[in-house]
Amino acid sequence: MTVRAFDPDYEVPREHYELILDAARHGPSGANAQPWHYIVVTKPETKLKISEYFVAEQRRRARLKMKFPTPDYRGVGTAPGVIVVASDFRWVRAFPVLRDDDSPLNDMYKENAERILLQSVAASTMSAHLAAAALGYNVWWITAIGQQEAQEAMKPLLGIPEDLSVLDIMCFGPPKKAPYKRWKKRLDEIVNWDRFDPAHYWTEEQIEEWIRTRRHRVMYRDESNID
Ligand SMILES: Cc1cc2nc3c(=O)[nH]c(=O)nc-3n(C[C@H](O)[C@H](O)[C@H](O)COP(=O)(O)O)c2cc1C
Repeated sequence: MTVRAFDPDYEVPREHYELILDAARHGPSGANAQPWHYIVVTKPETKLKISEYFVAEQRRRARLKMKFPTPDYRGVGTAPGVIVVASDFRWVRAFPVLRDDDSPLNDMYKENAERILLQSVAASTMSAHLAAAALGYNVWWITAIGQQEAQEAMKPLLGIPEDLSVLDIMCFGPPKKAPYKRWKKRLDEIVNWDRFDPAHYWTEEQIEEWIRTRRHRVMYRDESNID
């Protein structure tokens, strides 16, 4: 269960970082390329700077009227555990691509290679999240603030080389308040047996309606209290 505010006084023991990242290390990846890097952020001033970028970006999005229900990113600054997840897109070459070819055909393969890379890093990151949960922590997965400017601001702060991309941030720790379970689709709504059940298909109108009327509720409310 995601939480976005943690106990600021808790200190994560070093062996917990190591257990969590050892789980990440064992994650599956396309071509076993393991296209990931993890940067553990322990310095309070660095955590604060990262959270400041997020807060600034959140304000900008509000000004741009993006209407995305954004959380309070100040929680990043006081999270006991902060791990930055980076990847190197040059690893797409490890997947099936037509090398040294910029034809439209290769664009198609390249797109799929990028998907393999992102899935691989997500699989490793999820292993880290599960390990953190197994240690009794709550977690916060942050990918949404990854646009170019945030990347450029964060990389020098952490000494991350230009070629790498910051994909997301994992925060974890004991929660500040009791965590709550969010709405999830029912099992029978997402599982199909042998053939895709057409009743499971969402039209564009239904998706738009969900975004307009449900999204803000399912993101920040207990599932028993969303209506
Ligand atoms: C790929 C991915 C990106 C996410 N990005 C953000 C983010 O940028 N900010 C945030 O507050 N939560 C983010 N989350 C957390 C989701 O909002 C959260 O998992 C979802 O609302 C379901 O809640 P639960 O984890 O408690 O089940 C992200 C989760 C995933 C898997």
